[in-house]
Amino acid sequence: AMVRHYNFNVVLKNVTRLCSTKPIVTIDGKFPGPTIYASENDTVLVKVVNHVKYNISIHWHGVRQLRTGWADGPAYITQCPIQPGQTYVYNFTLTGQRGTLWWHAHILWLRATLHGAIVILPKLGVPYPFPKPNMEQVIILSEWWNSDTEAVINEALKSGLAPSVSDAHTINGHSGPIQGCASQEGFKLNVEPRLTYLLRIINAALNEELFFKIAGHELTVVEVDAVYTKPFKTDTIVIAPGQTTNVLLTTKHAIGNYLVAVSPFVDAPITVDNKTATATLHYSGTLGSTITTLTSIPPKNATPLATSFTNSLRSLNSKEYPAKVPLKIDHNLLFTVSLGINPCATCVNNSRLVADFNNVTFVTPKISLLQAHFLNIKGVFTDDFPGNPPRVYNFTGTQPSNLRTMKGTRVYRLAYNSTVELVLQDTGMITPENHPIHLHGFNVFVVGKGRGNFNPTKDPKKFNLVDPVERNTVGVPSGGWTAIRFRADNPGVWFMHCHLEIHTTWGLKMVFVVDNGKGRSESLLAPPNDLPKC
Ligand code: C2O
Repeated sequence: AMVRHYNFNVVLKNVTRLCSTKPIVTIDGKFPGPTIYASENDTVLVKVVNHVKYNISIHWHGVRQLRTGWADGPAYITQCPIQPGQTYVYNFTLTGQRGTLWWHAHILWLRATLHGAIVILPKLGVPYPFPKPNMEQVIILSEWWNSDTEAVINEALKSGLAPSVSDAHTINGHSGPIQGCASQEGFKLNVEPRLTYLLRIINAALNEELFFKIAGHELTVVEVDAVYTKPFKTDTIVIAPGQTTNVLLTTKHAIGNYLVAVSPFVDAPITVDNKTATATLHYSGTLGSTITTLTSIPPKNATPLATSFTNSLRSLNSKEYPAKVPLKIDHNLLFTVSLGINPCATCVNNSRLVADFNNVTFVTPKISLLQAHFLNIKGVFTDDFPGNPPRVYNFTGTQPSNLRTMKGTRVYRLAYNSTVELVLQDTGMITPENHPIHLHGFNVFVVGKGRGNFNPTKDPKKFNLVDPVERNTVGVPSGGWTAIRFRADNPGVWFMHCHLEIHTTWGLKMVFVVDNGKGRSESLLAPPNDLPKC
């Protein structure tokens, strides 16, 4: 294994998109940001130097960070932010992981422009468990606001209302021509005929699940969230914020231009940025710009299409890559996932939108929880997060009368190596909606899923304990539930939240504290000397 060094200078850069120019926060002026390349078991050192006026922290989304929670990145959870002028070196090892992950800012809404890919190649001499691709390409999907995203969220927090939606989606930083800016060029993926390409697709959007489609071509899904899957063919993929999907693309034509389209998926009666971002798959040697378009772009409410895609995902579960699903469970938990409304004297309707797990709207502390945990500082958090709903729920699709939530910095404590089954139940207090829930520090197995209320006697009988998909960000279906299992084999403080950024802002987040085990190898490492102070 090698040690890989990266320098990340956080700087402002003027960027023109959608026919207007604005300064955005970037790494070294790049948008999307630089790709981190490494191999399985390599150690990565990223020196982040903050040259902007914002506090910064970077999260390595999906990297397990075994015993190195200090490098995980969420601000006030595992570290204090890197203040203007300060430097912090993230130091972590990619133990037993290979595939596509990504990195992003984990403070305020800065991840809108501060994000990039992490490509982890298999160990030298170890092949992919699928036909070797001739070429590889990172494809980052995101959202673009013409206004400053920090202003967008601050305005929403002041008013208590929902923030304005983005102005465009992007594919590797470009939307393609859109209404009002026809000259906007799209990303061009140049290909040669009759080769196989591995596309590493990342959804870095703040608030939207997305469909991805290429005209005239089929895709073969081989990996999600840096875990190999049983390969399957599809013409559309659906991908939630936080998730990554690797697909094989065979360039079966000799020549031509083919449309690549990215459009939103939302299973809720809410406003979305409904614009389709486009790119071009361009066969080398093709003259002219005539393009084969798609016969159909999925409408935003194409739920059956999205469901059939996610239901097709299975762990590879081979001899080399077994699915180690916990079979004996120590903690049976059920968290409701919901939005609510709390009083707010200064807000527009004297109320503000909030979000919660089990009716608890998470309050971000002033110092990092990992420090409070490691140094045993009292009064920062309480370990009484409810393991089951404190209020009776019954998903019916209509609003209950009580939409209020409790506030608190409450964590759920797990013994080292204990096993957890967690049912995430969307109760749709305001409106049913999909929620991509991301757990830091672990991969989880998605053992079951359903519509309506989870039934604790009937539903577990149908769980897939053999080859459930293993990932770090799982969708909770609108008005339904998802059951996950994981082993708490990583001591530290681990954030879990909805990866729709607005829901995180509103408090749809909580923390698992995993205590040290007996031996040194089962304990959290000591903090690095340059860990930022609050
Ligand atoms: Cu990709 Cu806590 O996030």
